Amino acid sequence: MSAPVGSRLTEAELDQLQQSQHTHYNHYDRPPLPFACLSARGIAMEAVELTGPHRGETFTLYDASGGYGSACLGAGNDLVGRSLQRAVAASGYVTDEIASLERARLLDRLFGAEGRWSDRFPAEDYHVAGRNSGSEGLELALRLVLESRFDIRRLRHRPGREKRDTILAFEGAWHGWTQGLLPLLNRRHYRVGLPGLAPGEDYGVRVEHIPFGDADALDEYVAANADRLLAVVVEPVQGDAGILLPPPGYLRHLARLCADSRAWLVADEVLTFAKTGRWFGMHDEDGPVPTDVTVIGKSLGMGALSTSMVIARRELRARATGTISTSDLRPLTSTVIHDGLGHIENTGLLEHSRRLGSRLTETLRALVQRFPDVYTDSRGLGVMHGVELSGAAAARLDALRTHVLRAGVYVEFMAGAGKRSRGLRYVHPTMRIAPPLITTEAEADEIVERLGEGTRRFQETL
Ligand SMILES: Cc1ncc(COP(=O)(O)O)c(C=O)c1O
Repeated sequence: MSAPVGSRLTEAELDQLQQSQHTHYNHYDRPPLPFACLSARGIAMEAVELTGPHRGETFTLYDASGGYGSACLGAGNDLVGRSLQRAVAASGYVTDEIASLERARLLDRLFGAEGRWSDRFPAEDYHVAGRNSGSEGLELALRLVLESRFDIRRLRHRPGREKRDTILAFEGAWHGWTQGLLPLLNRRHYRVGLPGLAPGEDYGVRVEHIPFGDADALDEYVAANADRLLAVVVEPVQGDAGILLPPPGYLRHLARLCADSRAWLVADEVLTFAKTGRWFGMHDEDGPVPTDVTVIGKSLGMGALSTSMVIARRELRARATGTISTSDLRPLTSTVIHDGLGHIENTGLLEHSRRLGSRLTETLRALVQRFPDVYTDSRGLGVMHGVELSGAAAARLDALRTHVLRAGVYVEFMAGAGKRSRGLRYVHPTMRIAPPLITTEAEADEIVERLGEGTRRFQETL
C-alpha cells in the first residue's frame, strides 16, 4: 500500500462510516470495500481503512475511475467551486418555462451562430433538453424515437410509420438502469422478469441485437429489416462491454445505413463525452459522424452535478407536457456546464487527453505483456481504456481488486460483453481506467505502475 499518512478519525467516526455502508443500499453481490474517502484533490484521495489491523489508518489512493467516468476535472477543482458559488449567488432557479441568462449563454456558446458544436448540431436542425442523469437522457431519446411514429396530437400512427416496430441495439450494450431502457440490454441477467416494450401488441416495439463492430452483421441485418427499423441505439465505444472500439469506418457506415433506411440514429455518448480525446466519440478521420439524437452526460456535470443533455433533430418531439422535467437546464446546471466546458477548451484538456491516451495505450499494453496469465488485452483511447481479464483472473476478481487497491490505485471493473453471437469470442470482465482529463502524464505512469505492483502481488496467489 502507498504511504500511510496517519490516523485522524475517532472510533465513533469509523463506526459511523461502517454503519453507513450497512444502511446505504449495496448494488453489488459482494460486501462493500473496506475503505472510505475522507478528502480528495485532483486524482488523489485520502482514504481510510475501515476494518482489520490497520483500521483507522489513512493512505493516499489514486482514483483512476474518475467517479464512474464523471469527474473530468478531478476533485476540488477551483473553477467548479467558483462557478457553483456564482450560480447559487446570482442565477436563480427558473424552470424551462422562463428563459434564463445562464441557459442562454450556454446554448449560445454551444449551438449559436459561432457555437462550439454548431457545425455538428446547427440550431435550425437540432433542439436540446437537459435531464438529471445519463439514464434519464436515454429515456428521453427513446421516447422521442417512439413518438416519431405518432401524430402526437391525435395519438395515432402516422401513415407509413406503422411498420416501424423495431429498434436495433448491440450485444454488450449498457444504456442505463431505468425500466424503459431494459430492452436495449441484451443480457438476460439485466432483463428477465422486468417489463419490456410490449412487442407484438398495438404500438409495441421489439428490440433486436447484433454484435457491435461487425460490419457484415450490420449489413445483413439492415438488408433484411430496413423497412421496419425505427431506430438504432449505439455507444460509439462500448463501455460496460469492456471498452470495445469499432473498426475504422464502422460508425460512418452505420450512419449512412440509418439515413438510407430512414431509421433514427441515437448515439449514447453519456460515457464517451469528452473522453475519446474529442468532445464526441461519433467522429472519424473525415470529421463528425452525423446522428439524429445524441445523449451526453457524466463529464458534462464536471464531477459536481449529475446531468445530461439530449440533442435531437427538431422533428423529434414528444406529446405536449409528456416529457417535462423539473430540472431541465436549470440556471445553476447551465452555469457549471458553461464554465467547465470553457475551462476544458481554454486549457487544452482534450488535446492533453489525446497525448495521455497514447501514453496509456503504450504502458497498459506493456502491463498486459508482463502479466499474460492475468490480462489478455488492452484497448482504448483518450481517457478511456480497458484491460481485459483472463478467465482465471475473472474468477478471482475480488482478490485482484483488493491487491490493486492495496497498491494504491482505485479502478472499476466492467461486466464485459460476455457471450457474443456469430462466433465472436467471449469478452471477460474488464478493468476500466478512465482518469480525469486533468491527470498528468506522470500520474498516468504512476497509476500503471501501481496496477503493476497490485497485479504482481495478485499473481503470486494464483
Ligand atoms: C454508455 C452509458 N449510457 C448511459 C449510462 C447511464 O448513466 P447514469 O448512470 O448517469 O444514469 C451509462 C452509465 O454508466 C453509460 O455508461
